[in-house]
Amino acid sequence: MMAAESQNWVLMVTAQTPTNIAVIKYWGKRDETLILPVNDSISVTLDPTHLCTTTTVAVSPRFHQDRMWLNGKEISLSGGRFQNCLREIRARACDVEDTKKGIKIAKEDWGKLHVHIASFNNFPTAAGLASSAAGFACLAYALGKLMNVKEDESQLSAIARQGSGSACRSLFGGFVKWIMGKEDNGSDSLAVQLADEKHWDDLVIIIAVVSSRQKETSSTSGMRESVETSLLLQHRAKEIVPKRILKMEEAIRNRDFASFSQLTCADSNQFHAVCLDTSPPIFYMNDTSHRIISITEKWNRSEEAPQVAYTFDAGPNAVLIARNRKAATLLIQRLLYYFPPSSDDLDSYIIGDKSIAKDAGINGVLDVEALPPPPEIKDNIPSQKYKGDVSYFICTRPGRGPVLLSDSSQALLNEENGLPK
Ligand code: DP6
Repeated sequence: MMAAESQNWVLMVTAQTPTNIAVIKYWGKRDETLILPVNDSISVTLDPTHLCTTTTVAVSPRFHQDRMWLNGKEISLSGGRFQNCLREIRARACDVEDTKKGIKIAKEDWGKLHVHIASFNNFPTAAGLASSAAGFACLAYALGKLMNVKEDESQLSAIARQGSGSACRSLFGGFVKWIMGKEDNGSDSLAVQLADEKHWDDLVIIIAVVSSRQKETSSTSGMRESVETSLLLQHRAKEIVPKRILKMEEAIRNRDFASFSQLTCADSNQFHAVCLDTSPPIFYMNDTSHRIISITEKWNRSEEAPQVAYTFDAGPNAVLIARNRKAATLLIQRLLYYFPPSSDDLDSYIIGDKSIAKDAGINGVLDVEALPPPPEIKDNIPSQKYKGDVSYFICTRPGRGPVLLSDSSQALLNEENGLPK
């Protein structure tokens, strides 16, 4: 097959892919295997500097089987979703030549060659943030590059989709729509970019990682149960989401924060209402999540225009989108007032883009007692505080799509043997 004087070569590619947060939610499949949704969805891609997956994929005639390591631990590739992604990418592989290394792989050889995959999340998996979205997007993107696949990002998104639905939206930066499609084979169920990350760069995103002891229902089984039992889901998919999608596209196009935040909050609340309408009911939000909703609702209503939007996925963490930096600093002050850190160590309590906390006048050690109560609660004293209910905050912003990392020092696999470094 290869012009290989030796069979010892290892060829590899490393890519970095962001995660995303839906502002119009995907909840419910019409096809479980192909992962085809019952409605369109829209997301914001999060800055990969703070939340991303890095994946190295390698091929070598020395490899005897496909293998994968996630955050340093070997995991099984036998699951149907991995197999579907690998099969779809392999089917599109083309000739590859690396003259420097004297490697030549013909299109038809890819079926016989095995791959090694190493993936790493730059955020704690335990935080319950959607890691499968960035993970499968990165897998599809990196394998596509390694195998010289000619398909564009939208077509790659239809492959990432078969790993995890929300993953298809991580093939682009900025604002992304997953078009549900009509075809039974899923060929038209793919992601498109609505606007890039520069289009609306005032937005600041603050994620409250909420402390929780309970093991949540997975999205996959949760949405299956909703499809089977919730009439509200049927109504939402048919009557509500199509109109909301149009309004959300318009809000994004016009950078209309009032409309954007109204739609985002309403759609998150409806998704959780569908969960409650499921039998047996599913609870993803907890008391802390509800408290964060009340705090932001109260603040928004006390201002002339909404300052912040909230949205929650299949867990208690809040994703808060502030209209601009000023609003973000006011939001941070409010969040710290209600949810003071358990220790004085603010440096590990507010992570990500530290400049937001600095703008808010919050540096180093915080005198929690010195924070004044937000004006909107002045009359209803005494206001309670909830120390320890938030594990930490991540400050970030809308970000770019996948990129290749060409610096070999960033590779997760060893160039000599294709095993994890
Ligand atoms: C609540 O993409 O994790 O985050 O397709 O079964 O892998 P599978 O589910 P997944 O579901 C995400 C659901 C959500 C909403 C969203 O991201 O749109």
